[in-house]
Amino acid sequence: MGVKLAIVGATGMVGRKFLEVLKEKNFPIDKLYLFASSKSAGTVINYNGNDYVVEELKEDSFDRGIDIALFSAGGSTSEKFAPIAASKGCVVVDNSSAWRMDENVPLVVPEVNPEDIKWHKGIIANPNCSTIQAVVALKPLDDLYKIKRVIYSTYQAVSGAGMGGYQDLVNGVKGEAPKKFPHPIAYNLIPHIDVFMENGYTKEEMKMINETRKILHRPDMKITATTVRVPVFYGHSESINVEFEKEFNIDDIKNVLSNSPGVVVVDDVKNNKYPMPILAEGKNEVFVGRIRRDESVDSGINMWVVADNIRKGAATNAVQIAELLIK
Ligand code: A2P
Repeated sequence: MGVKLAIVGATGMVGRKFLEVLKEKNFPIDKLYLFASSKSAGTVINYNGNDYVVEELKEDSFDRGIDIALFSAGGSTSEKFAPIAASKGCVVVDNSSAWRMDENVPLVVPEVNPEDIKWHKGIIANPNCSTIQAVVALKPLDDLYKIKRVIYSTYQAVSGAGMGGYQDLVNGVKGEAPKKFPHPIAYNLIPHIDVFMENGYTKEEMKMINETRKILHRPDMKITATTVRVPVFYGHSESINVEFEKEFNIDDIKNVLSNSPGVVVVDDVKNNKYPMPILAEGKNEVFVGRIRRDESVDSGINMWVVADNIRKGAATNAVQIAELLIK
């Protein structure tokens, strides 16, 4: 028996990737429904050899026994429609930031905290793309050496801002003015992702801090972050500095990461091998390299973590959650 599955935001950057990943994973679909705004209602999208017509998302869209809905249509759409879907018995896996910090909503990365899925009440949140790839690498290290403090510095691809972000880079190299970002992204970088908060951080930075604590069940963890948009199409990169409570051996860290689910260690600097966005693009794993001791503290490391932000950072993680739901 397959699943009655809906994609909300099916015409978007992540929505289209949901379909690609579902197909690759041979996800058992009985009926498929595609939703977007009125703007693209009527658009035809092919999935697995069949054509599907995109429908406008409406309040009665879930009145037909849909089991699971993967949402990626922005925060305000999720805020309004996820509770409606849940009230009809549908389980929502939501890619927006609308529900992530709600204490009644689990925030899940399947390699890290699959057990949290059990207490969902109809909505499960998919974390922020930068957070997902970071916690996949941090979890095994926290289990062994207990993390004291984390410093995140990110280098994030334009696709993280959806089709609009992607187009700004395509058009920017031709000399056209940006429409999505506040500044040109071609031949530039922008230390500003999402809106600025009262404390001087961006919302993206605060998402990384708060979501990491929630997923790792470490509300006390000291974390700071600087998030930066760079002119790369796909693949977020992160310099992560970690301080531990306990002592460690650097080779053990490399071994632990090599054996961790969802992680691929690429760390052979003598042969110029380290993770890069062009290597992570199109892949579902999190790539870790440049693993070295931070010689400025008693017990700490630096590492470089790269993943495809539209795959593991969004679509792949959501489909993995859906797979756990039907297990
Ligand atoms: P549409 O194509 O009709 O605008 P991206 O992040 O790549 O920009 O994609 C956003 C996705 O969310 C698109 O599929 C978009 O559909 C969809 N979307 C945006 N606003 C709404 C809305 N109010 N209701 C349903 N879907 C929406």
